[in-house]
Amino acid sequence: MSFRGKVAVVTGAAGGVGSVIVESLRAEGAVVLAADLIAPEGDQNHSLVVDVTQSASCESLIDTVMDRFGRLDILVNNAGVIHVGEAVDTSDTQWRHVLSVNLDGAFYMSRAAIPHLIETRGVIVNIGSDFSFVGGDSLVAYCASKGGMLQMTKAMALDHAAQGVRINIVCPTVIDTPMVDELARQLGNTPGDQRRIYDATVPDGRMISPDEVSDAVLYLAGDRARHVTGTSLVIDGGVTAR
Ligand SMILES: NC(=O)c1ccc[n+]([C@@H]2O[C@H](COP(=O)([O-])OP(=O)(O)OC[C@H]3O[C@@H](n4cnc5c(N)ncnc54)[C@H](O)[C@@H]3O)[C@@H](O)[C@H]2O)c1
Repeated sequence: MSFRGKVAVVTGAAGGVGSVIVESLRAEGAVVLAADLIAPEGDQNHSLVVDVTQSASCESLIDTVMDRFGRLDILVNNAGVIHVGEAVDTSDTQWRHVLSVNLDGAFYMSRAAIPHLIETRGVIVNIGSDFSFVGGDSLVAYCASKGGMLQMTKAMALDHAAQGVRINIVCPTVIDTPMVDELARQLGNTPGDQRRIYDATVPDGRMISPDEVSDAVLYLAGDRARHVTGTSLVIDGGVTAR
């Protein structure tokens, strides 16, 4: 699968999953602008600061892509945060933060990108979760954000199908990344115990690895998925089959 000549933007690109998506797209020939709260490592021309909770920051990122590279083919909305808490344990600020990064961020980035994606008949790939479909204990804000992202994906896909823009969502179960360490911290577990707990929740016996997520992103971003839009690709070792 070659992405030679394609220009991609990946948000949350310094993170466990984002960094692997960036490398995978580059390995297949794409020019990738890696964007995160702190500019990801790499040469300055291909890495940028973005705060996806701010629409002006998202618009400026897309403007920079157009200035530097002259086109946009692929947007991967991967930036995300998690908060452990039932409703009564979730403050206004915590609720807004999770919804702002996970849902507003993907909306602002997509809105800024779509006019340029129409020009290239490009694609958006959102990173959802198995919690786009099922509830999770003490994850009310996260589940709301990822469920919203699934519906946003479908609605946007319908709006832009006739313009040749494909919009899909990858929904992984728990992935072995720094987010697992953050969950361990919030739950008061050691990182090792947290990983054993998560491995045991997956029917095929282990968490997902970041490259399994990037494989799905590359499939949906590429020509082999040319008739695929408005759908979700669940990678969860069987979790949501229960
Ligand atoms: N790790 C998991 O178990 C898991 C499971 C399913 C889905 N996901 C999703 O995968 C995606 C990537 O998660 P990850 O595991 O790599 O987590 P991670 O914490 O390693 O990376 C997330 C990245 O998002 C960035 N980010 C946070 N707020 C931002 C903002 N306002 N603007 C720009 N960037 C911001 C962070 O700086 C970080 O680099 C997220 O959307 C997450 O919800 C993760």
